[in-house]
Amino acid sequence: MNRRNALARLATVALLGALPVSAFAADTIKIGLILPMTGPSASTGRQVSAAVALYQAMNGKTVAGKTVEVIVKDDTGAADQTKRLAQELVVNDHVAILAGFGLTPLALAAAPIATQAKVPEIVMAAGTAIITEASPFIVRTSFTLPQVTVPAAEFTAKSGAKKVVTLVTDYAPGIDAEKAFKEKFTAEGGTVAAELRVPLKNPDFAPFLQRVADEKPDAVFVFVPSGFGGLFVKQFVERGLDKSGIKLIATGDVLDDDLIDQMGDVVLGVTSTHHYSAAHPSPENKAFVAAFEKANGGQRPNFMAVGGFDGMALIYAALKKTNGDTDGVKLVDAMKGMAWTSPRGPISIDPETRDIVQNVYVRTVEKVDGHLYNVEKSAFEAVKDPVKAAKAKK
Ligand code: PHB
Repeated sequence: MNRRNALARLATVALLGALPVSAFAADTIKIGLILPMTGPSASTGRQVSAAVALYQAMNGKTVAGKTVEVIVKDDTGAADQTKRLAQELVVNDHVAILAGFGLTPLALAAAPIATQAKVPEIVMAAGTAIITEASPFIVRTSFTLPQVTVPAAEFTAKSGAKKVVTLVTDYAPGIDAEKAFKEKFTAEGGTVAAELRVPLKNPDFAPFLQRVADEKPDAVFVFVPSGFGGLFVKQFVERGLDKSGIKLIATGDVLDDDLIDQMGDVVLGVTSTHHYSAAHPSPENKAFVAAFEKANGGQRPNFMAVGGFDGMALIYAALKKTNGDTDGVKLVDAMKGMAWTSPRGPISIDPETRDIVQNVYVRTVEKVDGHLYNVEKSAFEAVKDPVKAAKAKK
């Protein structure tokens, strides 16, 4: 360094010293929110980012005396982009927290960065069970597929169905759902006659629905990721399966709150299991849904939105507990065991697994004030991810 540079640097240091404390970057806590804002899962990006913005609109942008700034990045649903963006956000933007993650491969792609940089990774959307095991810095506010599927299998068995075909999207969360369903349903004495897997990219359900029709099961159990339910239901009806007597049972991913009204009356009476419905009858949810709809041109929040909203609630609560300290280990420690009332109902973070513990509701599609909703009928309470719960027992 030459003398001129050294002097200039000294002058800068002196100037910084004279500035009010609020001018320091450390007084702003940055969150890097990585989501598929474009591409086939763009609805997830829109829902999560809108809910994150809503959380700040409802709760303010300061916590523990610091300003919380959210930087939204679009990974288009491509894992290499997620990884590159996570790296840039950590290295260039000095984010204290990474959040979002609309699909399982995207959450997994960021995990090594979270571990290396010791930055918490808050998974607000993706749902494969193993995700939280990919880094000790991952904490999840969405759900796991086995968590919502085991109750579906139990309901299916209780409804008297003996023979079922499963139909899932062919990637990690779909395989999770397929396995969890089969394990529980066969343990209850049922038979899975065929396990059908539909490609994630440009899915054409028609040939698989033909297989379902040919098998003539009592019921078909379905998982497709958020945003794809409309296409599935359209092809289900086009193939005449709605009139075949084969009962449709699904995870709530198929009956997204933001799509269900356009699916039409064919879905009336369909049973699904999930952790969130916009029709959840609590004061917290009524306030959440009303504020979300008001801020988003009448669009209903879906389960992705509630994952984003609760992710922010978790981050704010952890920052309060550390008094604004953004050390990654301290933040994750603060999150462990955290419990609060979400719009979806009571939730907590399992201190052992950093995964969410929540109610799973059995819902039926009904008309409420002329609109289709998943109306909750009963609940499995405080459900842990069954995959990790089984491992812990061993
Ligand atoms: C996932 O990729 O983990 C995922 C995406 C959408 C869903 C569920 C799981 O609805």
